[in-house]
Amino acid sequence: MADTPISGGEVPLDAFTTFEMLEDNPVAVYAWLRKTTPIVRLKALGGRIIFTKAKDVTRVKTDAEHFWSSDTTTPMQRAFGGHTLMRKDGCQHLRERHAMEPAFTPEYLENWSAAFKQITDNLLDKIVSQETVDLASAFAKPLSVGYLKCVLGIDDVSSGHLFEWANALVRGAMNAGNDPEIFFNSDQANTEMDECFDKMIEQYQISPDKSVLSAMVNAQSPIALSQVRTNMKICIGGAVIETRDALLSTLYGLLNNPEQLRYCIDTNNWSIACEEGLRWVAPIQASPRIVKKAMVMRGLYIPEGETVMAVQGSANHDSEFGPEPERFNIHRNTKLHQSFGEGAHACLGGSVYRLLVAQIALPKLFTRFPELKIAQPDRTSFKGFAFRGPKDLQVRLSDKA
Ligand code: HEM
Repeated sequence: MADTPISGGEVPLDAFTTFEMLEDNPVAVYAWLRKTTPIVRLKALGGRIIFTKAKDVTRVKTDAEHFWSSDTTTPMQRAFGGHTLMRKDGCQHLRERHAMEPAFTPEYLENWSAAFKQITDNLLDKIVSQETVDLASAFAKPLSVGYLKCVLGIDDVSSGHLFEWANALVRGAMNAGNDPEIFFNSDQANTEMDECFDKMIEQYQISPDKSVLSAMVNAQSPIALSQVRTNMKICIGGAVIETRDALLSTLYGLLNNPEQLRYCIDTNNWSIACEEGLRWVAPIQASPRIVKKAMVMRGLYIPEGETVMAVQGSANHDSEFGPEPERFNIHRNTKLHQSFGEGAHACLGGSVYRLLVAQIALPKLFTRFPELKIAQPDRTSFKGFAFRGPKDLQVRLSDKA
């Protein structure tokens, strides 16, 4: 039987919002859009439809009948040297996801705890004699690289290199204009990454460990080598920058709210700060989906085949989170924040991030430097439409400085 035709209004076009506004002050832009036109086409995004309300973002991520991730037109495929699990659906996606999953079980993750503590202590030892420090370059960035090298199982790479790879992948994935230089850089990064993975793969075939790469290489239901490689790249391109950004946003929130920081120190409860930091500034602000089947939402017709954006950065500031969502407040209920996504493609790395940040990095940093303060309160700036976090974070380590 043929589907009943559906009808709905045309999605309104917003020609006022510029890309710079989305990069510089998305909080204000999305607050306005949620109130006036929660489903809207943004001229600044090439006329793409975006969803800004929490319920709609959830629907886009979880309604598999109408939305899917399979996208063969995105530059991501070119940039990653193949299709990753993030742009697949159904059995194919599940098979690749299952291959990694063992590495994210609690007992596997607990295995990394001692290494995470050691990495954190080493970084804190290095800054101990300094008066002022940029926590971005001296702490968040090397910590992100250090823990991911353990979890992913790629010892054989320098710290700077992992960030270069992540940046090359991300820039390539967003290279809609096909700039040859950007693809040159991502191709070069791909060659280096594949070489690095292949060396480690040989090792894990002989002696497996609890890393993501080892889990994929030794999966019960094996996946192709090409998929092992591209899915490792998702873990690099989708975690190195985000971990740094999420940790820095959380630190910025705590340092600008000393009474909340005091509460965390006194109660030794850092999970609430970790979750509020994730909610407050979603490190990945928006995720694309393809409309699989035309439908009507909020009375508006959403046409089949369009690429749409579910904006979790906006969903996290919806009325569900209480008053003044733009303020960092560890005492609000953050349970439903969407920074790790939802549905079939929900992030696999949430628990390892939480282990690092809530259990180790925050308590260790503030135990070691209880007087730590922001150096210049108004200097830190946040930027970014797709990925978002503070660019630097200058602090004084003690009151004596
Ligand atoms: C603060 C840190 C992180 C944030 C904010 C983050 C965010 C996200 C988001 C929003 C998605 C869903 C994307 C979508 O729906 O299209 C995702 C997927 C994913 N993340 Fe993360 N992530 C983080 C850390 C990590 C880490 C540490 C790992 C691995 C070590 C990881 C591995 C993955 C993988 C493999 C997927 C794809 C899952 C699938 O498609 O089935 N992430 N992440």
